[in-house]
Amino acid sequence: STASIRIDPEAVVAPIDRRIFGSFVEHLGRCVYDGIYEPGHPQADENGFRKDVTALVKELGATTIRYPGGNFVSGYRWEDGVGPRESRPVRRDLAWHALETNQIGLNEFASWLQEIGSELMLAVNLGTRGILEALDLLEYANHPSGTALSDLRAAHGYPEPWDIRMWCLGNEMDGPWQTGYMTADDYGKLAARTAQAMKAAQKDLELVVCGSSGSSMPTFGEWERTVLEHAYDYVDFVSCHAYYQEFDGDLDSFLASALDMRYFIETVVTTADAVGHRRKTDKKIMLSFDEWNIWYLKEHQESDEVNETWPIAPRQLEDVYSVADAVVFGSLLMTLLEHHDRVRSASLAQLVNVIAPIMTEPGGDAWRQTTFFPFSVTSRLAQGRVLKPRVEAGTVTSKKYGEASAVDAVATDGDEGSAVFLVNRSREAVDVTIDVSGLGRAAVAEAVTLWDDDVYAKNTIDDQERVGLKPLDARLDGGTLRVRLEPVSWSAIALR
Ligand code: AHR
Repeated sequence: STASIRIDPEAVVAPIDRRIFGSFVEHLGRCVYDGIYEPGHPQADENGFRKDVTALVKELGATTIRYPGGNFVSGYRWEDGVGPRESRPVRRDLAWHALETNQIGLNEFASWLQEIGSELMLAVNLGTRGILEALDLLEYANHPSGTALSDLRAAHGYPEPWDIRMWCLGNEMDGPWQTGYMTADDYGKLAARTAQAMKAAQKDLELVVCGSSGSSMPTFGEWERTVLEHAYDYVDFVSCHAYYQEFDGDLDSFLASALDMRYFIETVVTTADAVGHRRKTDKKIMLSFDEWNIWYLKEHQESDEVNETWPIAPRQLEDVYSVADAVVFGSLLMTLLEHHDRVRSASLAQLVNVIAPIMTEPGGDAWRQTTFFPFSVTSRLAQGRVLKPRVEAGTVTSKKYGEASAVDAVATDGDEGSAVFLVNRSREAVDVTIDVSGLGRAAVAEAVTLWDDDVYAKNTIDDQERVGLKPLDARLDGGTLRVRLEPVSWSAIALR
């Protein structure tokens, strides 16, 4: 079949904020311990962080990193993770039923991010703690010196403040699984008071209030409305979390998952704006899509992975991703860009081992999952501003979402070049003609695609490079770009 696309440089969604390419590190399974940090590994640096993993994180192009959770944060005492390592307590983590040794805490993690060049986005515990503990953490992290907690930080060996701007006011407080979960009304009040106090301490903070843990939550929409009625004046972002998976071999519905993400975003924007309208304010609340990914959650829930023992850094949520997973993943990232006027920050959940683009083996290798590729290429090529192309294509029908466009596209345009990102969610190849004349580019600088005859092909420890990027035959003739998109594929083309 065929499709035609027109890219109009005037159809601007928004200038790119690099925070859209964020990720997430939680003290969960082997994300931190035996993931980014493994002091006994031959590749460990002087701080115990694996250099091979650090190199892959840099290549991935993850910007802001959300930390330390996730569900974990709702039982976390930040004080446990600072100061001399030998006196840090071992605690039970009720969220994941594991032991937390606290050998990594704020200072070690923030130092590692400095080396990578990523910004830290820090979550405070509003599940089992409150305003005072949030203020203490803020003072410890950001106050320059001359107060009890800033001086304590200096005494711990970190005289310079971390200057953390983005803070999450708890995590998934709408979820019954959350330690200390609350009604929207209770959480909205607590979040508003915490936010007000944090901004009294430092007014340039950017605060993220918890939205819904998914569009299928029974409280979805009503949660955002109630929480924002309380917190609107004090917060800057509302969070969205969404995970997708293929259910019962229904690949067509899975490939159309971006439709749910679109519905999610548009509903939250409408709800937030309705609250703003009632308050007669011009202030707009932005969206922080600070957990998104493919996650085979149903299978994990059915397994006995979380057992009755208290292991340290067990193998939990270690999904191995296929080509189909990476194609859907690529389309989700395109959807975030398409809504970048309101989704100003996002975090791929998570970074290493736990539902992650990067896998490691203790004492052994580190390698890229299939999902690594759409993320790293998009993060590297997207620059300037996001453009929304006009797409004319056939449709595919899925049980869950009805009709979806067979082909979707999003483009970016900056001083150094333009880029087009494409997904073909149909089971047949599509010949695509793209009118790029408005961009005034002379040549194709790079064209890659992710697809395979076997949509379920994966990279595993024994076959780490089974799936990778393939060259895409993209021809630019005058102002027209021609490509053939293979069935179930994700592609990117850079123009210069
Ligand atoms: O990312 C894994 C978990 O998913 C996080 O801890 C939680 O916030 C969400 O439910």
